[in-house]
Amino acid sequence: MNVKQVRDLWKLKNAEKIGDPAKLPRHVAIIMDGNGRWARQHKLSVSRGHRQGTETLREIIRHTDDLGIEALSLYAFSTENWSRPPEEVAALMQLILDFFASEIDELDEKNVRILILGDKSALPEKQRETLIEAERRTAGNTGLHLNIAVNYGSRAELAKAAREIAEEVLAGRLKPEEISEETVSEHLYTAGQPEVDLMIRTSGELRLSNFMLYQNAYAEFVFPKVLWPDFTVEEYDRCLKEFEGRGRRYGGRTE
Ligand code: IPE
Ligand code: IPE
Ligand code: MG
Repeated sequence: MNVKQVRDLWKLKNAEKIGDPAKLPRHVAIIMDGNGRWARQHKLSVSRGHRQGTETLREIIRHTDDLGIEALSLYAFSTENWSRPPEEVAALMQLILDFFASEIDELDEKNVRILILGDKSALPEKQRETLIEAERRTAGNTGLHLNIAVNYGSRAELAKAAREIAEEVLAGRLKPEEISEETVSEHLYTAGQPEVDLMIRTSGELRLSNFMLYQNAYAEFVFPKVLWPDFTVEEYDRCLKEFEGRGRRYGGRTE
């Protein structure tokens, strides 16, 4: 089924619940926050909280794909998260391996394109290889862009873009006056993808924590209070409904 057919089908099935599929976001970004607090609430280890979070992750990826949304970006591990206790970092690194081992076949079968946002070179070898292999295996797919941010920081991404552009200028392939907003976009990890329409952060925190600063320039923000392991498809649909009701003016006037 192509994107249009999926949207049409979905429109029939969900007409009352969500409304107009034309108002679906093209690109959703999610800061999956609250695993630690969920673990504390349930008197479980932090790593158990992160593991529970990957259950939510599966459901949300599946639902996003079913809806025919073009791109989904998920914040899994930030450049700042290295400062967490070593056992927690190790547990998160292990989860990366487990997640891809269990999901890659289904994602590939569903025509999902996986892209890792972030600097893979600083990751342990196994993780790096797993992520590179997931990207390679799905590179020819044409469905959902699934962006997973691992060792990602938006400032680092922008600094990398500036370096690459400077090199093109030095090499004589680009003139400074030719550098446009598109030039910058083309040097971000998300090159070629639509900008973020809807940004969701769970757990009630109201900040970006260095996530996709450039891509979020005109995103609509929704902050559900629920912790990530408790986030459900129904809650996600409520976020989409909220997005549908937003008036997006981009600085202009609607009438
Ligand atoms: C988000 O959950 C997951 C990662 C940062 C990897 P947290 O671990 O930040 O959860 P809280 O904020 O401590 O509840
Ligand atoms: C952002 O959450 C990073 C991820 C969700 C991967 P954090 O929990 O690390 O961010 P802060 O510390 O609340 O800013
Ligand atoms: Mg947090």
